[in-house]
Amino acid sequence: KEISIIGVPMDLGQTRRGVDMGPSAIRYAGIIERLERLQYTVHDLGNIDIPRPDRNAPEREDKLRNLPEVVDTNKRLAEVVDEQVEKNFFPLVLGGDHSIAIGSIAGVSKHYENLGVIWYDAHGDINTVETSPSGNIHGMPLAVNLGLGHQKLTEILYNQPKIKAENVVLIGVRDLDEGEKDLLRKLNIKVYTMHEIDRIGMPQVIKETIEYLKERTDGVHLSFDLDGINPSEAPGVGTPVIGGVTYRESHLALEMLAESNIITSAEFVEVNPMLDDKNKTAILTVALVGSLFGEKLF
Ligand code: ARG
Ligand code: MN
Ligand code: MN
Ligand code: MN
Repeated sequence: KEISIIGVPMDLGQTRRGVDMGPSAIRYAGIIERLERLQYTVHDLGNIDIPRPDRNAPEREDKLRNLPEVVDTNKRLAEVVDEQVEKNFFPLVLGGDHSIAIGSIAGVSKHYENLGVIWYDAHGDINTVETSPSGNIHGMPLAVNLGLGHQKLTEILYNQPKIKAENVVLIGVRDLDEGEKDLLRKLNIKVYTMHEIDRIGMPQVIKETIEYLKERTDGVHLSFDLDGINPSEAPGVGTPVIGGVTYRESHLALEMLAESNIITSAEFVEVNPMLDDKNKTAILTVALVGSLFGEKLF
């Protein structure tokens, strides 16, 4: 299988600058070499252009920070991802803040009747315009993919929900806003919070996730937010939350997913080298990508 790497140096979905350097940090940490060593053919498509917002524009009435730029970027990302799937290449998207999941999932979704999504994250990212406490679009992509939220976001690529609630699994969750809790309950979405991970262990969580998605989906997108991992091990993220998944548990999760062969596209997001400790979080990301693509010690 051939892999297409798509960098999205997006930092407009939130307020901490520096996450736009995520794709560079991950390339610098050797992602291409790592995948080539595993015998993949890698096409590095470079980065999507990100428009700079008009700093003199009046404050938006809908409180969605940088909406026009986030919409524009995600439209172009969705088209690139769509083309790669068309060519039968595996799209591997590097962020950038998590708002880019709007475009990557839109692009992939055209090719599957029942696209599954694994949302590996400390957060739910299922806020809508009404429930968002921050106005930051990186807290909304899962809702948008489900067809909920600002129309300018939900109509990207085509005006339909991109995924179904029953095809989504959240893993690593430990910080939800009130409106997110209500929506997750209302939609009856499968959520493994840190409580379940502590209680039944990551092997069981992933085993159940694979079984669950295998019987109802025809492709699975992995949306991996590095803040899912504990900040002591992944400090280079904009919204760290204490009490996260360990590096080892995350490796195991990705190794099990690799063995199951269910993952058909992926993104790794929220790596911010400006907040990091000697590029630790990007280095960890590359190691995790290795596991996702079947790397073994020997
Ligand atoms: N729930 C908060 C918000 O809506 C934080 C979201 C953090 N999202 C992320 N992708 N890191 O603003
Ligand atoms: Mn997060
Ligand atoms: Mn929060
Ligand atoms: Mn996230």
